[in-house]
Amino acid sequence: MPKIPVAILGATGSVGQKFIERLIHHPWFEITALAASDRSAGKRYRDAVNWFQQTPLPPSIGEMVIHPCKPHLEGKIVFSGLDSRVAGEIETAFAQAGYLVISNSRNHRLDADVPLLLPEVNPDHLAVLDQQQTPGKIVTNSNCSTMGLVMALKPLHDQFGVKAVHVVTLQALSGAGYPGVASLDILDNVIPYIGGEEDKIETEPLKMLGHLQNGSIQPAHIQISAACNRVAVVDGHLECVSIQLKTAATKAQLIEAWTTFRGLPQELELPSAPRQPLHYFHEDKYPQPKLHRQIEDGMAVSIGRLRECPVLDWKFVVLSHNTVRGAAGCAILNAELIIKTRRDSVGLSIPG
Ligand SMILES: NC(=O)c1ccc[n+]([C@@H]2O[C@H](COP(=O)([O-])OP(=O)(O)OC[C@H]3O[C@@H](n4cnc5c(N)ncnc54)[C@H](OP(=O)(O)O)[C@@H]3O)[C@@H](O)[C@H]2O)c1
Repeated sequence: MPKIPVAILGATGSVGQKFIERLIHHPWFEITALAASDRSAGKRYRDAVNWFQQTPLPPSIGEMVIHPCKPHLEGKIVFSGLDSRVAGEIETAFAQAGYLVISNSRNHRLDADVPLLLPEVNPDHLAVLDQQQTPGKIVTNSNCSTMGLVMALKPLHDQFGVKAVHVVTLQALSGAGYPGVASLDILDNVIPYIGGEEDKIETEPLKMLGHLQNGSIQPAHIQISAACNRVAVVDGHLECVSIQLKTAATKAQLIEAWTTFRGLPQELELPSAPRQPLHYFHEDKYPQPKLHRQIEDGMAVSIGRLRECPVLDWKFVVLSHNTVRGAAGCAILNAELIIKTRRDSVGLSIPG
């Protein structure tokens, strides 16, 4: 069977470029169309994009002509890295036209019939897809900082119950898209505000860690307070987290919960699944963005500095690669999980 044809919406952006980098050699998917705004449509990709990935732009992709984001693209799946100012309507139009839409944008994340999917955490939430009335379906990724945080909370919540979370983020520049933050604003500086971000981190985990009841997702009861900062790091969001637990746990139990944690992607051996989703560092100075964001090809989340918190119970540091685990890499893992577990409802099978 041939590979599944896929299109990328927002292909010129920070997340769109990561999609190309990670899909170009994917065993199941083949990039058949690229789309972006009217500023780029009609141009060859290499003339429209400012390619800033560390791997060279694949020549075959560079020659592709960019389409407008209209639902006439060659492909069965569309991976969306669209600016959230326009993503909502465009993604709906693609779902109405029968495409499986795998989105990174915030627009549909909290819709009741849309899974806010993190494959290691809530694969059962895919059940709400059956409630979507369109011929195609929409599945979303969370915010990039939410993703690392929820990965770290999941095994603790399952085993000990998480009651409250306080998180301070140090977020990388690539999280602001391209061209993102002006150099004169960020060099020699930290910006203690990222529009809309704290809201997302305080609400999205509740849906992701929620449980299915009578076909709908009931939110988890966790109090979350977030403070977000932009720092002069290229890739990799660091988060300083304090938590309160429902049941007391020792330091050794928490570390064991993280290091032994595995999810459905590991069990199914999906192509993009990290072998070990959570890595714990015992060295006081780790994890660090520059050193550890690429662990397991950027798909693993790193944790360190677990110690007692005088205000809540425990505090620690979490690091995740924002455009890989926090965006394109996770979106591709979402698509792999859907094809592997729900091939009948989406009408797609694994090539081979
Ligand atoms: N960066 C991250 O770490 C990250 C993580 C998780 C989620 N996200 C989300 O993913 C999405 C993309 O983020 P990004 O950082 O890649 O942003 P970006 O670099 O600004 O890229 C935005 C893309 O959207 C396209 N676009 C803009 N206006 C459009 C329009 N009117 N019609 C059609 N296409 C349009 C742009 O095309 P042109 O080049 O033609 O303008 C570009 O391809 C956002 O919703 C963001 O919130 C980002």
